[in-house]
Amino acid sequence: MPTPRIPTLLPVTRVPVRLRKEVAAILITRAQLARRVRELARDVQRDFAGRDLVVVSLLNGTVMFLADLIRHLNMPLRLDFIGVSSYREGTASRELVFTKELRLEVKGRDVLLVDDILDTGKTLCTVLAKLRELKPREIKTCVLLDKPSRREQDVQADYVGFEIPDMFVVGYGLDYAERYRNLPFVGVLKPEMYRS
Ligand code: IMP
Ligand code: MG
Repeated sequence: MPTPRIPTLLPVTRVPVRLRKEVAAILITRAQLARRVRELARDVQRDFAGRDLVVVSLLNGTVMFLADLIRHLNMPLRLDFIGVSSYREGTASRELVFTKELRLEVKGRDVLLVDDILDTGKTLCTVLAKLRELKPREIKTCVLLDKPSRREQDVQADYVGFEIPDMFVVGYGLDYAERYRNLPFVGVLKPEMYRS
C-alpha cells in the first residue's frame, strides 16, 4: 500500500523549482504571514470592539490577506470591496481607474480600509479622499506590506504587516501583470522579469 502523503506545515523557505527562473527569493514565508496576520487581527479586534465595523478591501491584491485577516476577526462586521486599478502591465504606477464602487452604506460607521501594499501612497490617498466624502465615523487603514522608501504622498497606514525594502514583490495576492497572486508566500520577482 502506498504511504499516504502527509501534508506539511513546514514553511517553504526555498523557491519552488517551478518558479526559480522568475522568483529570486522568498521574502516572507507562509508561516511568517500567518503569524503576523493573526497579530494584526488581534489589534484590529481590540481597537474596533463594540463598533459598527465595515471592512472595505481593495481588489484584487488583497484577496488572500483579506481572507486570512477576517477569519481571525471574532466580531460582527460587514464586508465590501472597491475595485481600483492603475492599469499598468509593469511595475511603475500610473493613473487610477475605479473598476468597482462601494455598495454598503458607511455613513456614521467605522471603516477599516484594507490594501495589499502601500507604495507611493497614491492609491490609498485617492481612496481615502473618496471614502471621507461618504462621512464615516472613522477610517483606519490596514496594509500587509509597506515600502516607506517609495512614498510620494504623505500617508501612513494604521496597521502594517511588514515594512519591506524597495523591491518588487509578488505572491499572497500581489501580482505582476496579473500573475503570481496564488503563491502562498511573498517572493521577490527577478528584475529580468519586468525589465524587458
Ligand atoms: P501606490 O498607489 O503606489 O501606493 O501603489 C499601491 C498599489 O501598487 C498596490 O495596491 C499594488 O497593487 C501595487 N504595487 C506596488 N508595489 C508592488 C509590488 O512590489 N508588487 C506588486 N504590486 C505592487
Ligand atoms: Mg493592487
